[in-house]
Amino acid sequence: MWLAVVLGAVPLLMWLFWQWNDVWYRLVTATLRSSEGGTSLPPGYMGLPVIGETFTFLWYFKFLRRPDDYINSKRRRFDDEIGMYRTHLFGRPSVIVFSPSATKFVYRANESFKTEWPNVELVGKTSVVAVHGKAHARLRTFVTRSVNQPEALRRIAATVQPRMISALDSWAKCPTVTSYKEIKKVTFENIGMFFASFKPGPSLDLLSEYFHGLVSGVRSYPMNIPGFAYYHGLQCRKKAMAILEEELKKRKNKFEDGSSESVNDLMDGLMKLKDEEGGQLSDIEIIDNIVSLLLGGYESTTLSTMWAVYYLAKYPKVLQKLRDETMALKSSKSEQFVTSEEVLKMKYTMKVVDETIRLANVSPFLFRTTTKDVTYKGCTIPEGWNVMLWIRYIHTDPENFNDPLSFNPDRWDVPMAPGTYQVFGGGSRICAGNMLARLQVAIFLYHLTTGYTWKLVNPDAKVKYLSNPKPEDGAEISIEKL
Ligand code: HEM
Repeated sequence: MWLAVVLGAVPLLMWLFWQWNDVWYRLVTATLRSSEGGTSLPPGYMGLPVIGETFTFLWYFKFLRRPDDYINSKRRRFDDEIGMYRTHLFGRPSVIVFSPSATKFVYRANESFKTEWPNVELVGKTSVVAVHGKAHARLRTFVTRSVNQPEALRRIAATVQPRMISALDSWAKCPTVTSYKEIKKVTFENIGMFFASFKPGPSLDLLSEYFHGLVSGVRSYPMNIPGFAYYHGLQCRKKAMAILEEELKKRKNKFEDGSSESVNDLMDGLMKLKDEEGGQLSDIEIIDNIVSLLLGGYESTTLSTMWAVYYLAKYPKVLQKLRDETMALKSSKSEQFVTSEEVLKMKYTMKVVDETIRLANVSPFLFRTTTKDVTYKGCTIPEGWNVMLWIRYIHTDPENFNDPLSFNPDRWDVPMAPGTYQVFGGGSRICAGNMLARLQVAIFLYHLTTGYTWKLVNPDAKVKYLSNPKPEDGAEISIEKL
């Protein structure tokens, strides 16, 4: 009898262990939400109790280094019609959305899918990326006007070039440089300049160090214990806030004693911003917004620029075609600087930029949380679930792009199929700095290709995908003047 019990119970217990999350969440949704119409969850597998599929996710990202095969493996196992799968990641029941039409549904159903940044306390709870409704609309209009429209782009184009030119000049004097590290320095100096008029120097170096810690913390598991990235991120945020608070105080004091000069940077604009009742932003709101914009703009632009350097070194024919265009512009001008209008008119350059950002996938996922039960194509995503828009898959799926992993700017000769280019997200949260980002990469490429030739030191360096995609050596290059 015992043998029969063991033979029957052990497999049952193992099955239950293996299927625990699926059984549990199906039960919960079937019993609590039976009045809601479509009660079945999206297809998929939710993994083991508590840990869910977190190790499987890490397996594809960290060990196999083929992140999108995580989705491909699901597509082989489950129905892929609906464009989403249920899973359980990093402690939360989740749905992964991977098709253009399903992501479009999420962007449109704005009220049902709330933007939720992981570790939002690091980004800033009152920042444009975290607030909703009217407060979001007001801040967003301001940010877009300040960094993303023609007048702002013209001003920013002139601001960023001196640092780019002198950085390239100094790189050529070194035997090799790590492009990620060096581009990051230039990008931070530039962003620090037009966001808060910070000049290169010790304060900016410290701020850059703190932001590095902050970025790592945002993408980490929230363990507030010394030694963990999240804890370090919180410490870095405190220190970065102190520097920005100090700057804000200085400006306010100058304003009060009448000695303030017009600065015309983002911090100044935020200080003057008023709502319909004439109310101004509090100090913490101003600082939260500077922090979040620095966070949004600096790592993403750095990585995109680094990937452009990397791909161009690997694709000499593309580089030649790009150089033909940038050289033609250079020889038609007497000034060293280019204007935003000139850059944005260079057709092939902009294709190189768009192709780089597509393939680099520096923002691989977007996060939302359901505010109520949402039904899509007969399946229900329960309230409070994590929704992960896996936008990198949209850019690497052969159904959307022919030979998707090759770097081919010519693919931009024809318009992309609708919804297949989502590098900047979509809907009401679409990137507020997309033109600025494209412009910065393009200006950098103009100066790089018209003045220098470069090679990757380790062309076969492995790529790591967490927390951001980059070659393990940070794209080390040897660079010399043309
Ligand atoms: C290549 C570089 C960049 C990429 C790939 C990128 C990507 C994105 C993506 C995918 C989103 C949508 C987030 C979501 O829906 O949850 C976003 C939002 C945002 N980005 Fe960017 N971004 C880049 C550069 C910049 C720059 C330079 C700025 C500078 C200000 C910026 C500011 C923002 C802001 C403020 C938002 C939030 C918009 C909102 O919530 O309304 N981004 N970005």
